Amino acid sequence: MDGNGRWASARGLPRGAGHRAGVKTIQRVAEAAPALGIGTLTLYAFSSDNWRRPAEEVGGLMRLLRAYLRGETDRLARSGTRLTVIGRRDRLPPGIPEAIERAEAATASGDRLHLRIAVDYSSRDAILAAAARLGPEGLSREGLSEALGADGDVDLLIRTGGEKRLSDFLLWEAAYAELHFTDRMWPDFGATDLAAAVADFTARDRRFGGLNPPAVPQAA
Ligand code: IPE
Ligand code: MG
Repeated sequence: MDGNGRWASARGLPRGAGHRAGVKTIQRVAEAAPALGIGTLTLYAFSSDNWRRPAEEVGGLMRLLRAYLRGETDRLARSGTRLTVIGRRDRLPPGIPEAIERAEAATASGDRLHLRIAVDYSSRDAILAAAARLGPEGLSREGLSEALGADGDVDLLIRTGGEKRLSDFLLWEAAYAELHFTDRMWPDFGATDLAAAVADFTARDRRFGGLNPPAVPQAA
């Protein structure tokens, strides 16, 4: 979800106004996703490297997160959206881990969309922690995916805001993800942009390292 700050600056607004506008995008995108065939949507809200930002901006983002969890849980539950949060919880401000747990419990039966929000998230740290939990004997591709809570591989990875990098997001899960980069700033991103990204994805030839059509007939 990149581009909140630049969106605000371009309008002569403080960066926090961009982050507030970005929260509204979450709702638009989550509402549009199921009809486009998206069952799981993971949003990168706050990376472990974002702690480096000024305390005022970090505080504002945490307040937005708290308000989102408190204000949106009912709507998410009513719309059949299951909310889960990935990332570290031990460094979050007081009250937020509890708010996350409440939102996750209240939306646990949602089966229309699995909305995952990454907060204090680093994919490299998540992989290290999962590998340490499993130990050398327990390591396998499937085991690590499960330990990461991966909910399947990422098919399509969208980055808004014009940058073309992964920034430590879902590195294991996105091994074969199709990448879609758009200059649209996150606050301006909407259902049409999501549909365009899905159309782009649908047109890709996914071979997973093989050939298409296969040179050797595949066993049924
Ligand atoms: C949102 O956009 C990402 C968050 C950390 C919430 P940015 O804050 O990265 O906005 P830009 O890149 O400065 O425009
Ligand atoms: Mg940015």
